[in-house]
Parts: sequence; structure tokens; C-alpha cells
Amino acid sequence: MSRPQRERIFSGQRPTGPLHVGHLIGALQSWVRLQDEYECFWGIVDWHMLTTHYEDTHELDDNIIDMAATWLGCGIDPERSTILIQSQVKQHAELALLLGMVSPLGELMRLSTYKDQLENLKDKNINTYGFLGYPVLQTADIAAYRATRVPVGEDQVEHIEKAREFVRKFNNLYGRGKQPLLEPQAMLSPTPRLLGVDGRKMSKSYDNAINLSDSPKTILKKVNTMVTDPQRVRRNDPGDPEVCSVFAYHRIFTPEEDVEQIAQDCRTAAIGCGDCKRRCAERLNALVAPTREGRARWLERRSDIEEILAAGNAHAREVTEETLQGVREAVGLR
Ligand code: TRP
Ligand code: SF4
Repeated sequence: MSRPQRERIFSGQRPTGPLHVGHLIGALQSWVRLQDEYECFWGIVDWHMLTTHYEDTHELDDNIIDMAATWLGCGIDPERSTILIQSQVKQHAELALLLGMVSPLGELMRLSTYKDQLENLKDKNINTYGFLGYPVLQTADIAAYRATRVPVGEDQVEHIEKAREFVRKFNNLYGRGKQPLLEPQAMLSPTPRLLGVDGRKMSKSYDNAINLSDSPKTILKKVNTMVTDPQRVRRNDPGDPEVCSVFAYHRIFTPEEDVEQIAQDCRTAAIGCGDCKRRCAERLNALVAPTREGRARWLERRSDIEEILAAGNAHAREVTEETLQGVREAVGLR
């Protein structure tokens, strides 16, 4: 149960579809550990999903339930953490609106995440007010809880820096020596960068991810598509693990002693690529299996998930309403 002296954490994920191993090792595994030490709020940030996917919302309901089931399945514990749906806690929107008053347009347009996505998501029209405001809404997500720590990946550090700036600006303008909002800090997880099976960034939109719902067979099939040392044509050719994408996975998912052995066996052609891939798929499966099975069990209890979400939303509303009362007061909206 929540002890008020613990520092608060907020983090979130966008319900855009099935979660993959990148989400597990990059975020969820550390979220599970953080539950012991911090008062944690985990947001299913559906409004953020809309900033880029507003044209296609028919799977949103299912994606939210799937995300909750996956989180619960991997060990997020509703007794120790609060799971909430962003759009069900309107205080996020109110705070985003107010923060928007002090968030400079130029700074939002200069963010590299903004420029990159405009460039990369050419098939979507995200030349919108909503998408430009993404970091403002993200600031509100965090600040509404007066959370001071935000576990995120490297790619989000820029957003957390902006969040600090926007909060500081807000406090300077309206705080009168008090702190209606708190400046958050990013907590980087030390996970290595995980690429997809095609060597690009692992992402649902590239269709190159090992999903947390994938069966052992599917995992093996995906690993079998990975590119190995192109010089290693025949079974007897010695290989160079350093240029092989399967070996990059072994580095992440296989215990260190075994990794050295694999490298050696590759160089001496003692192991074939087929065997090597099978071992890689086994490691991945061992990592994914508990979450896959946990998710499947939760999905059979949809009404329990809905209850957990309703309770999480209610608690989140209470906590954020307290912050918002101070904020409205500070701004002069009495
Ligand atoms: N932008 C984050 C991502 O893409 C998701 C997110 C939304 C978030 N609001 C947040 C993360 C608040 C941390 C805190 O991963
Ligand atoms: Fe890659 Fe393994 Fe084949 Fe070596 S043996 S090239 S590490 S798949």
C-alpha cells in the first residue's frame, strides 16, 4: 500500500498494439523492480497514441486491455502500483492545457523527436497542433502526480528535459516561492539498444519485433530470418560473430560464459548458424514465456482487468486532483 514518504514515479506507454521484447527489457522489467521502492503510477497513454494514430482508433479498446494484461502478466502488481488510463483522468488534460500557455512553440518545434517523426511518419499527417503538443501532454502526465522520477529510454530524455523546463517556468511564473509542480528527473535503464530481426530499430511499424505474445515457434521463425555473417556460406566456413545480428542478440540474451563459447565456435565453424539461431530463439523464449503466459491468463479475466483499471483511474484522479487544486489556485483560477 502507498506510504506517502516514498518518492513518486510516473511512466507510460502508448497502446499502439502488441508489446515486444524491447518493451520488456527496456521498461517493464525495471518497472517491476521499482515497485518495491517507489510509489508508482503507470499510465496507458491513449491520448498520446492519438497524436499520431488519430485516423485509426478501432483497435484502441483492445489495445488498452492487451497492454494492461501484458503489464499485469509480467509482474506489475496492482496492490503496489497504480495502473491508469490517461484519458480517464481528465486532470492530465487540464494541466496540459495550462502548461501549454507557457510552453514556447519554438522549443517544441526544435525537439529532435518532433523533427524525426515528421520526417519518418510521412504516411501519417501529423502536421497538427496535437502532435506538436506531445511533450506538453507528457509533462502534464508526470507533473500531475508531482512525480520526481521518470523511468524512460534514451530517446525520451529530451522530453523529460523539456518537462523540467516547462515546470520550472510554470513555478517561476505562478509559484510565489511555492512549488505547485515538481521538476522531474529521467531514470535511465541500463539496457542495451535492441534492434529488430531485420536490423532496424525494433518497432511494430517495421514488423520486425519479437512480441511478448509470440509462441516458441513464431520466435524461432523470426530468428531464422535474421542475417548472419554473409561470408559464412557453407557449414564449414568459419564465421565472424561481430558482423552477425544473431550474435548481437546472444550478447544481450545469453549468459556471458556461453556468449564467449558461441563466438569461439562460430570462428572455428564448430557451430552451425541453424543451431546458433535455435539457441538464440530458446533464450528469447525463456525470457518471454513468463509474460506470455501471464498475459494469456489475465486475458481470460477481462472483467478483473477492467476492475483494476477502474480502481487505478479512481486513485489517479484523487492524487492528481490534489495537485490541480494547488495549480488552479496558483494560476488565479479560483
Ligand atoms: N512518450 C513516451 C514514449 O513514447 C510515453 C509517455 C507518455 C511517457 N507520457 C509519459 C513516458 C510520461 C514517461 C512519462 O515512450
Ligand atoms: Fe552468427 Fe551464430 Fe552463424 Fe556465427 S554461428 S554467423 S554467430 S548465427
